[in-house]
Amino acid sequence: LRERFTDGPLAGRRVLITAGPTREPVDPVRFVGNRSSGRMGYAVAAAAAAAGARVCLVSGPVALPSPPGVERVAVETALEMHAAVMERVAQAEVFISTAAVADYRVAEPALEKIKKRADILELRLVRNPDILAEVAARPDAPFTVGFAAETGDLERHARAKLEAKGLDMIAANDVSAGRGFDAEENALEVLWPGGGTSLGRQPKTALARALVALVARRMEAAGR
Ligand code: CTP
Ligand code: CA
Repeated sequence: LRERFTDGPLAGRRVLITAGPTREPVDPVRFVGNRSSGRMGYAVAAAAAAAGARVCLVSGPVALPSPPGVERVAVETALEMHAAVMERVAQAEVFISTAAVADYRVAEPALEKIKKRADILELRLVRNPDILAEVAARPDAPFTVGFAAETGDLERHARAKLEAKGLDMIAANDVSAGRGFDAEENALEVLWPGGGTSLGRQPKTALARALVALVARRMEAAGR
């Protein structure tokens, strides 16, 4: 155990990671959610732990075991994920936001199961907080890494998010035609202010190790 904390490119670093989808309740039995297997985030958590980091994984509901040596905090909604992250972010030196956070939640979830009556049922949705942007905007922000699932001009959309949210790094993947979601393999376009690189198509576990190595290198380059 001691070796785990003293070796590797992220030795002893505290890394906070979000993963999986969030579920926004409609009523006691239904929810609005996002597609996300959690695989990429869990692979990043495992890779960070293997690189010597002390990892806390704030995870929405997924069907995956906790990676060895990783502390997992289970959450369901975006507001719960937000609270779990804000409680822990001051201690983190790195924040990696892989979660597919629902952008909206149901304004007034029904307290009883909604019975089917009307032909058209309207749901009112309200914006959820942007957890990643809020972390990046803190005066004591950790080294902050976002993910972006995009269709169309991947690099342009991802660079816009990097700048708009003030991130240190963003990892973008192409989700056109459902690619990237439940797949074992993925490819990432990784961008940072003034630079970037491509991590070619490979298993998510290998991709996660490459990303973690890149985070460690960029942190070193930035003197952090
Ligand atoms: N994210 C977050 N909290 C939210 C929404 C997104 O932390 N409420 C994070 C995701 O974990 C990801 C990054 O922001 O790391 C980008 O998410 P994405 O959905 O691609 O971008 P959005 O800013 O939500 O913009 P849009 O969905 O309109 O493209
Ligand atoms: Ca979004």
